[in-house]
Amino acid sequence: MADAVVVLRNVWKSYKEGDSIVTVLKNVSAVFYRGEIAGIHGPSGSGKTTLLRIIAGLERPDRGEVIVDGYNLNMLDDLGLAMIRNTVVSYIPQDYGLVENLTVRENVELPLLIAGIPKEEREAKVREALEYMGLLPKANSYPTRLSGGERQRVAIARALVTTPSVLLADEPTANLDWENAIKVAEMFKRIRKDFGTTVLIVTHDPRILEYVDRSMNLMDGILKDKLTSLTGYTHNIYA
Ligand SMILES: Nc1ncnc2c1ncn2[C@@H]1O[C@H](COP(=O)(O)OP(=O)(O)OP(=O)(O)O)[C@@H](O)[C@H]1O
Ligand SMILES: [Mg+2]
Repeated sequence: MADAVVVLRNVWKSYKEGDSIVTVLKNVSAVFYRGEIAGIHGPSGSGKTTLLRIIAGLERPDRGEVIVDGYNLNMLDDLGLAMIRNTVVSYIPQDYGLVENLTVRENVELPLLIAGIPKEEREAKVREALEYMGLLPKANSYPTRLSGGERQRVAIARALVTTPSVLLADEPTANLDWENAIKVAEMFKRIRKDFGTTVLIVTHDPRILEYVDRSMNLMDGILKDKLTSLTGYTHNIYA
């Protein structure tokens, strides 16, 4: 039986825009399984980032249930959400969210500092994550000195250092050339193979959509599983 790691049940989210209310997510329900790589695409403004931020516990839905690796996010207070962000789920924003005046090593260490991990363990984990991403030679560099591909790899290392069950990547290849985009896609496959991580990727990039097990479309607030609608969807992990 596949292990459901992210469960969304009847999720609604609206924002106020001046006097009117825009409903971004309309009754979104979905299940993502352990070790699955899913691509979510849809027009600009369709709510893709909002959806990832809700799964990451960075925003709360107006209604509906979000369960991430057994944690019902509705039941957690802000401190609880901060805790799961540093252990269970990692979100990589589109602009990578690196702190410019910290080195690569310090950027990757940040989530462990926040989680209160002791120094020795932190150093070992940071080294491991940097090595895994091929970043040891850049450990003492500042983000502004790095190429786009390297910055993206630092963001992935920082997301991985807490060994989350779920990795959320927002447009991870938007600023990368062909070669680096393929490298990132290969990297997500390697991460899934090595750690059994569930990876949800928001992307418009057809190069990335070739790498995913399942692609979903978010439009007019409704999330559709493309394979379900086309073929009845047979679950295909580790493809
Ligand atoms: N904090 C906020 N306050 C008000 N409106 C917001 C907020 N965050 C998002 N929105 C609105 O919600 C809608 C969806 O935004 P979101 O960023 O989730 O879209 P997206 O699919 O990620 O778009 P893009 O492809 O351009 O990144 C947009 O209309 C946006 O203006
Ligand atoms: Mg977005």
